[in-house]
Amino acid sequence: MRQVTLQIAFDPGGWSDDRRHKIEELFDSLAPTWPTDDTPDGTAPVVEVPLTDALDRGLPLAPPAERNRAIDLGGGNGRATGYLLSRFADVALTDLSFEMLSRVRPALVPRVQADSSQLPFRSGSVDVLMLANMFLFPSEAARVVAPQGVVIWINSWGPNTPIHLTAQEVDEALPGDWSGVAANAGDGTWSVHWRSTQLGT
Ligand SMILES: C[S@@+](CC[C@H](N)C(=O)[O-])C[C@H]1O[C@@H](n2cnc3c(N)ncnc32)[C@H](O)[C@@H]1O
Repeated sequence: MRQVTLQIAFDPGGWSDDRRHKIEELFDSLAPTWPTDDTPDGTAPVVEVPLTDALDRGLPLAPPAERNRAIDLGGGNGRATGYLLSRFADVALTDLSFEMLSRVRPALVPRVQADSSQLPFRSGSVDVLMLANMFLFPSEAARVVAPQGVVIWINSWGPNTPIHLTAQEVDEALPGDWSGVAANAGDGTWSVHWRSTQLGT
């Protein structure tokens, strides 16, 4: 999966119809047992810790901007979406897998079945593009993120996450000049990325 993640991020031919079908089938099959992070034993949910840390400590370091519209990209069953809902006015979740989407609590947010290599969003219309354990499609991510917007990258298990990129790899993969901030939190890692042009550099 690490190899596939790197190919999708760096190789223009890294995403094909064949690969899309295989990935869709894979996550459809995983959906019934995908963790919900409703942890009755009180253990820390694996996405919550890095995501809330990124929102609490990382996002305030981005150049100031009004940020209302957030997307949980490849949001799966929506286990992380609630943490965006508590911070942003307008939140949606997209995923390739119908079986994942069908498990999102319906009232939570609008759900959109879409391939992140071709998003159904206007250019520059997204203030916060959040990817938790999800492939990075750099051109499409950069297209939809507003000039003052941010990309938030979460890996629940840090470098042990199957779909993992370092913060530096995310910066390098995104077209144009990006910079940001990164940290460890719990078992995970996070990074928040913004366009360097926002800093006047
Ligand atoms: C490892 S899961 C992570 C799900 C969720 N973000 C989480 O942390 O629980 C990766 C998700 O990305 C979705 N996905 C994979 N490729 C995608 C694509 N091209 N477009 C949209 N979603 C995709 C999968 O269906 C799956 O739900």
